[in-house]
Amino acid sequence: MVDTRNSPARQMDIVRPAAARIYDAFLGGSHNFGVERGFAERIEQALPGIGATYQENRAFLRRTVEFLLARGVRQFLDLGSGIPTIGHLHEVARRRTRDFRVLYVDNEPLTVAHSRPLLADEPRADILLADCRDPESVLHAPETQELLDLDRPVGLLMTSVLHFVPDSDDPLGLVEAYRDALVPGSHLVVSHVTGTHAPEAVRVLADFYAETSDPLHPRETSWIDKLFGDFEVLPPGTTYLADWRPDPGQPTSAADRYQLLYGGVARKSADARIPVQPVSGG
Ligand SMILES: C[S@@+](CC[C@H](N)C(=O)[O-])C[C@H]1O[C@@H](n2cnc3c(N)ncnc32)[C@H](O)[C@@H]1O
Repeated sequence: MVDTRNSPARQMDIVRPAAARIYDAFLGGSHNFGVERGFAERIEQALPGIGATYQENRAFLRRTVEFLLARGVRQFLDLGSGIPTIGHLHEVARRRTRDFRVLYVDNEPLTVAHSRPLLADEPRADILLADCRDPESVLHAPETQELLDLDRPVGLLMTSVLHFVPDSDDPLGLVEAYRDALVPGSHLVVSHVTGTHAPEAVRVLADFYAETSDPLHPRETSWIDKLFGDFEVLPPGTTYLADWRPDPGQPTSAADRYQLLYGGVARKSADARIPVQPVSGG
């Protein structure tokens, strides 16, 4: 298997379904191919109603971004962004303020190619073709440095991406590297697939994703909690997504038969651990 860890992006693959376009198909978007639409239909047959889980992820993203905007966050780094359509981050921000910056990052070349024209008229948003498993190259990319001021608080989104990172790539360590790079006042948003509530459904889902270019790595909720490290998890804490500050009248997870997505929002406080700098010289 090719190790893509230190390469800027993975190989283009339009034979197997890709996570970005499967998600777009479930959201009702137009940036997907027959292979992803057929795949989505087969999952829907095996797990009736599963489409609501994908839509709930996008609704969680909207609610968390509105929450961060209300807390004064104005710049966002969205890792594993997918194609920014159907209510993505910059659209949510644009409804609230003119003063925002969004850098999307994805490692799937066609996803990035599809995204560029969508962002062409939005100078406050850009997309970087990069692998989130390489924090150094993401944080030091010219696009990041130009668009974001990393000396000011950032909203870091890792929604529905870390379950595509295998344990062998140390997902806890890489999220820690991003947390350490952010200044106090920054926030981390995570959503992640879990089988804690519905192990059989998640097993079926993971079997499907084994056919794709993005195999799935579901994890227990107790493991997902660890992603927030020494950040302060904000109320209501980590939850199934439908229970995270639901809109008035919105069904909560009790109405969601699968409860496969879990996450939350946390903030870096001024007294968070200062990362130890390597000692240089002899
Ligand atoms: C399901 S989409 C999530 C989209 C968006 N974050 C959301 O929650 O609405 C997952 C995306 O993560 C991307 N992805 C997977 N592994 C990645 C990696 N190592 N680095 C960057 N992007 C990655 C996929 O290409 C895909 O576009």
